[in-house]
Amino acid sequence: MNQKIYLSEDWLFNENFQEGMTATEYPEETLQPVRIPHTCKETPFHYFDESLYQMVSGYRRHLHIPTEWQGKRILLTFEGAGHDSTVYLNGNKVGEHHCGYTAFTVDLSAYASYGQDNVLCVRLDSREDLNVPPFGYVIDYMTYGGIYRDVYLEVKDQIALEDIFVHTLITPDEAQVTSEITFYEVAKDLNVRQYYMLKSDAVMSGVVSDVTSDNGWQFLCEQNVPTGTTAETPFRIQGTIPHPFLWDTEHPHLYLLKTQLWQGEQLLDEAEVTFGIRDAVFKKDGFYLNGKKLRIRGLNRHQSYPYVGYAMPESMQKLDADLLKKELGLNAVRTSHYPQSHYFLERCDELGLLVFTEFPGWQHIGDDTWKAQAVVNAEDMIRQYRNHPSIILWGVRINESPDDDPFYEKTNAVAHKLDPMRPTGGVRAIKKSHLLEDVYTYNDFLHDGETPGCDPKKKVTSDTDKPYLISEYNGHMYPTKAFDNEERRSEHAIRHANVLDAVAGQEDIAGSFGWCMFDYNTHKDFGSGDRICYHGVMDMFRNPKLAASVYACEQDEIPVLQITSSMDIGEHPGCNRGNLYILSNADSVRMYKNDRFIKEYRPEMSPYKHLKHGPILIDDFIGDALE
Ligand code: GAL
Repeated sequence: MNQKIYLSEDWLFNENFQEGMTATEYPEETLQPVRIPHTCKETPFHYFDESLYQMVSGYRRHLHIPTEWQGKRILLTFEGAGHDSTVYLNGNKVGEHHCGYTAFTVDLSAYASYGQDNVLCVRLDSREDLNVPPFGYVIDYMTYGGIYRDVYLEVKDQIALEDIFVHTLITPDEAQVTSEITFYEVAKDLNVRQYYMLKSDAVMSGVVSDVTSDNGWQFLCEQNVPTGTTAETPFRIQGTIPHPFLWDTEHPHLYLLKTQLWQGEQLLDEAEVTFGIRDAVFKKDGFYLNGKKLRIRGLNRHQSYPYVGYAMPESMQKLDADLLKKELGLNAVRTSHYPQSHYFLERCDELGLLVFTEFPGWQHIGDDTWKAQAVVNAEDMIRQYRNHPSIILWGVRINESPDDDPFYEKTNAVAHKLDPMRPTGGVRAIKKSHLLEDVYTYNDFLHDGETPGCDPKKKVTSDTDKPYLISEYNGHMYPTKAFDNEERRSEHAIRHANVLDAVAGQEDIAGSFGWCMFDYNTHKDFGSGDRICYHGVMDMFRNPKLAASVYACEQDEIPVLQITSSMDIGEHPGCNRGNLYILSNADSVRMYKNDRFIKEYRPEMSPYKHLKHGPILIDDFIGDALE
């Protein structure tokens, strides 16, 4: 029941889709055996362009469908395929999907041959001239193709749980848990039962000592589904959890909700949903988590990797979340510029990493067909991701696009309808643009090394009563390679500190997301001529640059000591080392030269007064060594 059967192995692939590939008979020797996740084209590290992955490719796989599945729905889900998919079973079209960043499901049952071999085929269009977001103009990132996220089967009865949206309301002694359940088909005399369990395995080890729950299933609620409930209207069921453990960035307690659908004594369907109990609100003066003000400190993340584009498995998706939270000490991430892997989001839930997630797009707004697809994308994003407690904000404007009120009225309405609990934002590059969202989210690229780290809220927002969040800074203002000279790498780090400090000094800015976590391949209009944007605080392989330490210094779990120089004078013009900084979260850093003590540095010596551990200038190389 509700078990996912992953179809990762045994696929055959061809860069050129041919009609014949959908048929049961096809000369398969010409096809290449591949596994999912798969990129339609492996790329060089740099100096390549998007023409490599512009193709209409074909995927083919045999599938034995057992006779026991007769009369059931055989649901096949693609978590992500770039960018336009048409799915066939035994030569018959079973569905299509027009977005490379959201999941979709097709039902195979109408064309299944039971007890026999079936042929599954996908025509996948990864060309950038598709009339869907984010395409239509230039884009500052590669939009790789391929079935790059998991594919799985689920076999379900006609009367089944279709979708469950869990939201909670915290009162002084308890949490009210509401589930909005959609049934696939509603028959008479149904009964829904729910149980909850604290997912202790999700609690970060060492952080929590007060878990008293026995971790068994606890009864939450039970309700009959009234006759006349339609499959379209969500059915609401409510229960309470006394003295709940709240989810936050330090103690990311997760609960598991088990929902069972009964008819008399027969269990028809069962589903589990992970959720968190937390109160996340943006106010005029900042962001509040469970009633406490929290400054958002994050970076933007693309979902790309060297050589394989988007095609990385669960372990690597989760690793990025770990790097952001544990190595860089951040409390937030923006999934620029599209919804990302659920594995990444699940890890954010487990780690307590706040997420701003947005629907696909980059600067350009297309025609009516394109916009209609964008609205569908917003719907799909919210339905598919709304149970993740880590998500605190939906991005429902095309990143850095101009105002388009009729369009954005629609995307906001969709978001508020499908998730009345979460606010909307929409990333803009234009000050004082129309605000149809709940939070004004703006890319502030003011800082150029000399200018202030950020603009004050009142200079940017069109409504100062609404919350304000900085969604990007730095990035193209100072591209820096991991192998650039020391001055540049050091200046890069200092600029990140300058912005972080300036934002922390403004009480009414909810926080900021720097551009960006790591370097990425890009189109010819951007980057350093080698098709790389060197905008990351890490390189493409997630190796940290000096700037990474500026972020890491703000956390307390792992000790950090980074000097912005290797002290090799030959690295510098005229052998003049220039300004050197200590990046550390230590209470004290003692500097020695040839084993001789020179000076002790403490956090309060940093001129960055709004950071816990800002960079400290090394201003003494002599100490009392002069005789
Ligand atoms: C922004 C854009 C990002 C990236 C960044 C570079 O304008 O939203 O995708 O291009 O600039 O700094």
